[in-house]
Amino acid sequence: MGEEKETRHLNILCLGAGGFIGSHLSARLLSAGHHVTGVDIHAEKLGEVASHPRFTYLPHDIRMAGDKLDALVAASDLVIDLIAHANPGLYVSRPLDVFRLNFNENLKIAECCVRHSKRLIQFSSCEVYGKTVASIIPESLVNPEDPGLAHFSEDTTPFILGSIGSHRWIYSCAKQLLERVLHAHGLAGELNYTIIRPFNFIGPRIDYLPREHEGVPRVFSHFMGALLHGGTMPLVNGGLQRRCYSYIDDAVDCMEKIVENRDGICDHQIFNIGSPDNEVSIRGLALLMQELYLEHFDGVAAALPPLSEIDAEKFYGPGYDDSDRRIPDISKASKLLHWKPRYSLRQTVTESMRYYVECERRA
Ligand code: NAD
Ligand code: UGA
Repeated sequence: MGEEKETRHLNILCLGAGGFIGSHLSARLLSAGHHVTGVDIHAEKLGEVASHPRFTYLPHDIRMAGDKLDALVAASDLVIDLIAHANPGLYVSRPLDVFRLNFNENLKIAECCVRHSKRLIQFSSCEVYGKTVASIIPESLVNPEDPGLAHFSEDTTPFILGSIGSHRWIYSCAKQLLERVLHAHGLAGELNYTIIRPFNFIGPRIDYLPREHEGVPRVFSHFMGALLHGGTMPLVNGGLQRRCYSYIDDAVDCMEKIVENRDGICDHQIFNIGSPDNEVSIRGLALLMQELYLEHFDGVAAALPPLSEIDAEKFYGPGYDDSDRRIPDISKASKLLHWKPRYSLRQTVTESMRYYVECERRA
């Protein structure tokens, strides 16, 4: 008889389970047979997950969880921490809240894991890498089109952030400091952690559309809102900045392998998760969404929202700065986890759009 590896079913504490990534990840963990306790102040994105027999939803505000958090960590086999303010609009309008939640509160979670010797999967961000070398060196000395300059690798690439007055970087800095603290606990032999740096995931339930709530959601939701409800597709500083977009299902495939952690391969490791082949400028994304809207969703050319250029300070307020370009080096995830993303840019954007179009038609 062939040797069959049995998957151990874990009691997983998923903090931020009600968010975009958390809701998709929780669904996958339940399918894999695990028990999930999901903590979040919001439950709307959980959908069918909320009524799954192996899912428990706790509507705790992590800032006030205190002893409850300690007891939940003690009772779990694995802690996954996704809680954060994750919209650039907030980094600019509420920098102190971003620091308090994304560093102080996340630190308390890590300390509970140290106290109870629990494995922690911490969600960080590709924003820790900041800007490219090409953006701070005179163009005459470098070729800004060289993808090598923006190819970010977990264990070798240094981080380049803007000045203190550009307070957008408080998010990146808080995430970076948390990573450094986890690493130091690891060095002291007190914590088994894995850090995930997501690179622009999109898919169903990312953010809200602008008309539905106050604030500035991430760019995909802005453009989707304009396609469905009218208005313009605003291109901040002309939309020349570039991003690599990953479909959430691809990303969750990788996360599942990190949870599995065969032979402890992810212990004390940092993983980029992203789709290096899916790079596009923000202007290119707007045009692609227009094209796909006509091709797949019965859009009418005459009714497409126009692109509009807007100055970053006007759009976000003072203190905004930007990453010009970021391409994930995923060779570590590919080598250690045998993972590669499957969705092309067109598929990623089409499937993400499909969800919002169908929601609109059902409404
Ligand atoms: P999200 O905003 O959808 O999820 C965060 C969740 O945390 C939300 O559901 C929110 O309600 C919850 N939360 C906030 N404050 C809380 C509190 N006080 N108590 C309890 N719950 C609280 O964001 P996301 O896109 O799912 O991101 C999840 C994680 O991944 C974050 O740490 C984010 O920084 C990181 N990340 C995401 C991306 C991406 O592409 N989506 C990229 C880089 C990093
Ligand atoms: C985001 C957030 O910081 C986090 O969710 C996360 O850490 C990270 O990306 C990620 O997903 O990996 P960013 O990519 O800058 O950062 O997020 P968006 O708000 O989606 O902006 C992307 C680009 O589009 C930026 O250059 C922004 O200026 C621009 N933009 C945004 C527009 O041109 N128009 C808009 O309507 C909104």
